[in-house]
Amino acid sequence: MAGSVKVKVCKDAGDVAVQAAQMIAKAIKANPRIVLGLATGSTPEGTYAELAKLNKAKQAPFAGVTTFNLDEYWGLDGDHDQSYRHFMNTRLFDKVDVRPWNTHVLDGTADNPMLECQAFETKILAVGGVDLWLLGIGGNGHVAFNEPGSSVDSRTRLVSLTQETIDANSDGRFFKKASDVPRCALSAGIGTIREARSILLLATGEKKARAVADAVDGPFTPDCPASLLQDHPNCTFIVDKAAASLLGKK
Ligand code: F6R
Repeated sequence: MAGSVKVKVCKDAGDVAVQAAQMIAKAIKANPRIVLGLATGSTPEGTYAELAKLNKAKQAPFAGVTTFNLDEYWGLDGDHDQSYRHFMNTRLFDKVDVRPWNTHVLDGTADNPMLECQAFETKILAVGGVDLWLLGIGGNGHVAFNEPGSSVDSRTRLVSLTQETIDANSDGRFFKKASDVPRCALSAGIGTIREARSILLLATGEKKARAVADAVDGPFTPDCPASLLQDHPNCTFIVDKAAASLLGKK
């Protein structure tokens, strides 16, 4: 099964951002009413900055675009400065002409997490599914908050974060200390993500090299959730040289 993911290697993280933003802008031009799936984290920040520039230059109009985000910390209100709703507003939504009511981020304070997750899936179905889902990848191969062991047909649900993910998100980039990081999150499932018509996964830096190699060259296994994208008909990884450094060495 390995080998059907297309991999584009760029010289550095800046180049990954430019390439990814150009691909997304092209997709928006081809379909101005596109449904985009989006990710948070450090990796797509450069892409969002590039998209904001392209939007200003009228190369990536967001007025007709609908978005769905992968995940949200459980217990964080959208106004919390570490919530993914806040991340998306400040990194992208406030900088482009997207209609706020067309942006969907799971509510981390919903009364009933199961209903919130079901409603999220229903909204995706109601708009005809996601055309392009932008993803990052965790050092342990997670996509969204689907940690190792997540099943290929998992749906949007309340999940627990692994200690590795908690530590990665409290290294000073986001939360200051591990005890500040919520232990759970609402996350789109692997099955939810796999239904997108195309997938664009970004990875930069040597910390991601092992996960990228396992995802692309390794077995199709829940031990590396990103490997469960291998049989997707339209999945591209855009990675920098450092993240590509272990590819082809299995
Ligand atoms: C974010 C998400 C996560 C991140 C991953 C990598 O919405 O779903 O899977 O993509 O943890 O994070 P960064 O980019 O911060 O290394």
